[in-house]
Amino acid sequence: QKTDFGIIGLAVMGRSLALNMADHGFKVGGYNRSRMVTEDLVKEHPHENFIPFYELEELVRSQERPRKFLIMVKAGKPVDLVIDQLVPLLDEGDMILDGGNSFFEDTIRREKSLKEKGINYFGTGVSGGEKGARFGPSIMPGGDMEAYGHVAPVLEAIAAKAQGEPCCAYMGPDGAGHYVKMVHNGIEYADMQLIAEAYLLLKYVGGCSNREMADIFDEWNRMELKSYLIGITAGIFREKDDLSDQELLDMILDSAGQKGTGRWTSLESLKQGVNVSMITAACNARIMSNRVDPRKAAQSLFVSPEKKQPADKKAFGEQVRNGLYTAKIIAYAQGFELLAHASGEYGWNLDYGRIAAIFRAGCIIQADFLDDITHAFEKNPGLTNLMLDPFFLEKINAGQESLRHILAMAIINGIPVPAMSQAAAYLDASRGMPVGANLIQAQRDCFGAHTYERIDREGNFHHEWRLTDA
Ligand code: 6PG
Repeated sequence: QKTDFGIIGLAVMGRSLALNMADHGFKVGGYNRSRMVTEDLVKEHPHENFIPFYELEELVRSQERPRKFLIMVKAGKPVDLVIDQLVPLLDEGDMILDGGNSFFEDTIRREKSLKEKGINYFGTGVSGGEKGARFGPSIMPGGDMEAYGHVAPVLEAIAAKAQGEPCCAYMGPDGAGHYVKMVHNGIEYADMQLIAEAYLLLKYVGGCSNREMADIFDEWNRMELKSYLIGITAGIFREKDDLSDQELLDMILDSAGQKGTGRWTSLESLKQGVNVSMITAACNARIMSNRVDPRKAAQSLFVSPEKKQPADKKAFGEQVRNGLYTAKIIAYAQGFELLAHASGEYGWNLDYGRIAAIFRAGCIIQADFLDDITHAFEKNPGLTNLMLDPFFLEKINAGQESLRHILAMAIINGIPVPAMSQAAAYLDASRGMPVGANLIQAQRDCFGAHTYERIDREGNFHHEWRLTDA
């Protein structure tokens, strides 16, 4: 049987994308290393457009040239193993897409070595989890621009649609697609952490029950915070436990996992010299959460601060909403600044407005808010930091008092809010306040003759410090 597209790796994401393609009328050939996975898929979800293959060679033979394959296996070594198996069977001009969360430097390496063999390789970020993959993800392909035309019709057909436009766009050469996906995930970490902090504030300072928070989040989801994550969080607050008479959220261990994309974003930002402190704070918050036993053991060691409740619970809820929105703007400003920096560094010519546009639906961070970001970059493609866009500037100026107030309440009550704290620190360091670096330069010059610049004269100066205690 002839196929239009081959999918290698039929676990949750691979199978969902295969069925999505099949729904859109493409003949999809599927292959999985272990045969049982393919058999289960055919049994559970028979589809006239899905054709199972049990030999890779046969899948390759089922296609006209240029052949197109989507690899959906675990990031890292497994991707290289599939490429090594597949490439000897291919001809020049054939195309391989990697739809996993691969590290962008691996993608750059693979793209380069396959180009030498005449194979077009596309690092393709796919966001939206299982449901997104099945019914419309957000897709971020990066690779050879001309070759993109061969896969664009399929990718754009299966992508989510926002105001009728597909949430899929060519991102740039080699690692650009996976880089954008990595930063998407970094922003996802920050966004989730901010929501978790809003939850802690509402619960432990505001005294709200899960039920009340469900209603609050439903309300927020009709306003400027409207987003996929706020929506599912409202639902999570309502979920009953099947194994006890409790609410499920209260039965979940307070310790978060992470697979690495947030950490990559943070490491990469330090390499680039860009401050994504809120993403880093979100990674660190997950690290702290994993210290389950030490945290428990320390409970009796440290004195807890005296509780200070807000005078007006409803007004406090409003402040949390405003503070969360303000901090969210700052998190996205940091993430997009990293993209801008990387675009210059790697020569990708990223289109930030377009990136925000394909995040509007399908992906985990999908939100109406992304429309505002698209507009900001459309108005000013050279915008260096989102906070400086007039729309967002006004929002930050209107919301920062709330952010400061809820932070103060969190600190007084001993509630850890690292991402929101970083939002305020970033804002204050950005808005022209002294940051104390004159003293740091003095110290550097004092102990290491590293020199300093003066504010009244050009050039580098060294001072023979007349310290007596040094
Ligand atoms: C997406 C998600 C997804 C990611 C999960 C889990 O865009 O669909 O980002 O790619 O794997 O969110 O990530 P962590 O396990 O690191 O939290």
